[in-house]
Amino acid sequence: MNREKRIAAFKVCLFAAALVPITALVVAGFTGRLGANPVENITHTTGEWTLRLLLVTLAITPLRHLTGWMWLTRMRRMLGLFAFFYLMLHFATYAVLDASLDLAYVVEDVADRLYITAGFAAFVMLVPLAATSTNAMVRRLGPLRWRRLHRLVYAAAICGALHFLWLVKADLREPLIYTGILAVLLAARFPVIARRLRIRRATASVGATGGEIRERKNPGRSGGERTWRPRDAASGVSN
Ligand code: HEM
Repeated sequence: MNREKRIAAFKVCLFAAALVPITALVVAGFTGRLGANPVENITHTTGEWTLRLLLVTLAITPLRHLTGWMWLTRMRRMLGLFAFFYLMLHFATYAVLDASLDLAYVVEDVADRLYITAGFAAFVMLVPLAATSTNAMVRRLGPLRWRRLHRLVYAAAICGALHFLWLVKADLREPLIYTGILAVLLAARFPVIARRLRIRRATASVGATGGEIRERKNPGRSGGERTWRPRDAASGVSN
């Protein structure tokens, strides 16, 4: 099997694996094995899978940097959309079975209960990301704006983790494990953010001293100093 076929096969396996939790829920529902509190069971399962899949999606970039496996990026959109799929089920369970589709109740709940506020904020942030996940939307927004918008996934994951932390009353171990994993994934972003800030600062300083740099560069080949060029930004060189 060639490389492309192996990646495609892996993607199909991942797709099938992401369908396991919902399949298990449906089977349990039809065979009466959802437990004493079916609503709680469905809310718990869909909520946990939302968070797990969000974390797996966020782990793709650091994992790619660590392993050099560029093909991992091709799994990211599918995993993110599965996270959103479980979130939709989670929210639907709440809206239909908990709130009986009473909009006033939902609004009051979002305003009154901090963990619902955090969960809802995550939901609101993930809607535009799911809506702009197609190639056509990447082209329409432009890669830069698209990437900026999709950084919302970090804020959504933080809100999702806070939601879990705040709703648990007694045993905090499970939400703390998820929060810890999220903290590690966010920390893994720091070097990239720091480099971007350095580049931005360097670009700004070149903009401010552009005239002077041009002057110093042109006195003649022998007298020209080595000055910062925008092209250096790409390799992370800064003054
Ligand atoms: C990214 C967003 C979200 C994530 C990651 C998430 C995650 C979770 C998790 C893991 C649980 C299970 C807690 C447990 O039973 O031990 C849970 C429960 C719950 N979630 Fe979410 N959730 C999110 C968004 C929402 C939204 C938008 C709502 C509704 C507006 C919501 C309402 C609830 C409710 C009512 C519970 C049950 C609380 C209880 O047992 O008392 N969640 N959520």
